[in-house]
Amino acid sequence: MILSTRRYARFIEAAAGEVVSIARARLATEEERPLASIAIELHDADGDEAARRLEEYSDVYGEVHAEPPYSWGSDYTDLFRRRFDTQRQQDGFALVEARTAGTLIGVGFGVTLAPSTSWWQNLLSPLPPDVTDERPGRTWALADLMIHPRWRRLHLAEAIHDRLLGDRTEERATVTVLPAATAAQAAALKWGWEKLGQKRNPLPGAPIFDVMVKTL
Ligand SMILES: CC(C)(COP(=O)(O)OP(=O)(O)OC[C@H]1O[C@@H](n2cnc3c(N)ncnc32)[C@H](O)[C@@H]1OP(=O)(O)O)[C@@H](O)C(=O)NCCC(=O)NCCS
Repeated sequence: MILSTRRYARFIEAAAGEVVSIARARLATEEERPLASIAIELHDADGDEAARRLEEYSDVYGEVHAEPPYSWGSDYTDLFRRRFDTQRQQDGFALVEARTAGTLIGVGFGVTLAPSTSWWQNLLSPLPPDVTDERPGRTWALADLMIHPRWRRLHLAEAIHDRLLGDRTEERATVTVLPAATAAQAAALKWGWEKLGQKRNPLPGAPIFDVMVKTL
């Protein structure tokens, strides 16, 4: 079946067994097709598994971030790959991926912040120490969450997000979101994240990001 980006009647249902989520989508092609069911599986991957799947993750990263408002090129994908190799070995690394028929269609992952983290540096306005002081195991950082453009608005990101944060022992989570990333901003609002400030990541030409926190 040729898939198009037009989908209707989207929802995810929990299901038993290996397939933990089912998205029912009305798939539209040039000629509209009848309601179809697509099995979407969520998997957890540890750091070693994640290393073996880096090609897939970086392909999706490149495709997702080639779109506005990012419009990032291959230098960012290279940076993603380098950072990922560090992150996958860090404490608290957790990754959830979504696949359909074996094909990766979304992924989210993060790590626990170390007390020596630079996360709270480069803020445009300082935040109080009770916010920025890190203790071991205080904060889990959602490093990336991305869904392939053809598979948006199926609550896939929501399913990955909830699975990543569901069993964490940290007291809070944090994430950075581009102000112009309207989908991510809307999702963060819906999922209970609160904007605390803004920072500029120390990357060449990096834009300003909103820094958000969610109590776990
Ligand atoms: C942000 C992103 C991960 C959302 O993925 P998704 O699977 O389409 O999101 P979901 O279907 O789970 O949406 C959850 C909620 O977010 C909001 N939302 C998501 N996309 C939206 C959009 N384009 N416009 C408005 N609201 C949106 C909605 O409230 C939605 O719930 P609803 O459909 O019941 O109204 C996806 O758009 C993406 O990969 N964007 C590029 C990468 C990125 O910005 N990642 C986040 C930074 S870490």
